[in-house]
Amino acid sequence: MKDFAGKTAFVTGGASGIGLGIAKALLADGANVVIADIRQDHLDAAVAEMDGGDRVLAIQLDVTDRAAYKAAADKVETTIGKLHVLINTAGVAVVGPTELATHADFDWLLGVNLHGVINGVQTFVPRMIELGQGDHVCNTASMAAFIGSPIPGIYNTTKFAVRGLSESLRWSLMEHNISVSMLCPGLVKSYIYASDDIRPDALKGAMKPVDSETVKRLESLHEFGMEPDEIACRTLEAIKAHWFYIFSHRDHKEELRGIFNEIIDAYVDYPQDAGYEQRVGFEKFRQERAMELRRKWNELG
Ligand SMILES: NC(=O)c1ccc[n+]([C@@H]2O[C@H](COP(=O)([O-])OP(=O)(O)OC[C@H]3O[C@@H](n4cnc5c(N)ncnc54)[C@H](O)[C@@H]3O)[C@@H](O)[C@H]2O)c1
Repeated sequence: MKDFAGKTAFVTGGASGIGLGIAKALLADGANVVIADIRQDHLDAAVAEMDGGDRVLAIQLDVTDRAAYKAAADKVETTIGKLHVLINTAGVAVVGPTELATHADFDWLLGVNLHGVINGVQTFVPRMIELGQGDHVCNTASMAAFIGSPIPGIYNTTKFAVRGLSESLRWSLMEHNISVSMLCPGLVKSYIYASDDIRPDALKGAMKPVDSETVKRLESLHEFGMEPDEIACRTLEAIKAHWFYIFSHRDHKEELRGIFNEIIDAYVDYPQDAGYEQRVGFEKFRQERAMELRRKWNELG
């Protein structure tokens, strides 16, 4: 995707933070933009800030609600046009050791951070394939899709899964001329520390009362996060340059190198077992196909 002018884009979590940043950048680039978010008050404020007239449509949507998602897609088509660009950004966070988390904590985060992305893909990608105009899907993961830590364990789980989905879609959608990218920010100056405000009652479970001290600490930490507008600018440039991995922050390169080195160093040259030759034969076939796809991807850049 070299140009967003005249395209229609759907941005989940588009009422604040990174989503709003990307929505504004797309609008400035000439796209018609739909912002979908669970928070109506933030949608209202975002529409006023964007000031895009009939090139902006706001839809209140809970991305975990599949029927509502389909209705939103239908509304996009009838009011603003067929979709070319899907930006999955809606996300929430809970903080706390994984071993103390409840089923409700897992259900909520997996629902929004993973199933929200799945619902976007399931709803829009078949329509984009049918349209056949060379479209784009950008999924917002996080550096937490690569770096596991003790505290945001559920968040890690959801973001590693978004990475798996995105890595697979990257290759499977190539034949439909749909490019895919995965945005992996570090710390962002955003509102995600206040996720508990929108946690549905049915998924509060045995949740402990929100610790306002922790929320305050997180708020002050997020003050040092990167501005969403800067991330948006880097994201659009990367999409236009046909990059899959979008690392908006320079902060984690050496840490990632350490993780990948540990993975490679964990390989042991065991003696070959009975099925080794056959397995390697099959892997060679698969790897050649993967390399062919990678070569085609690079040609498109
Ligand atoms: N804040 C960070 O430091 C950081 C770092 C890496 C990745 N991310 C990811 O970036 C994305 C955007 O987060 P942000 O930092 O801009 O936070 P944010 O809270 O400002 O934005 C997230 C948006 O998602 C919306 N949302 C939440 N649940 C929803 C639902 N069920 N349906 C529809 N909308 C819903 C929220 O209302 C909010 O507008 C998230 O996926 C987050 O995981 C954030």
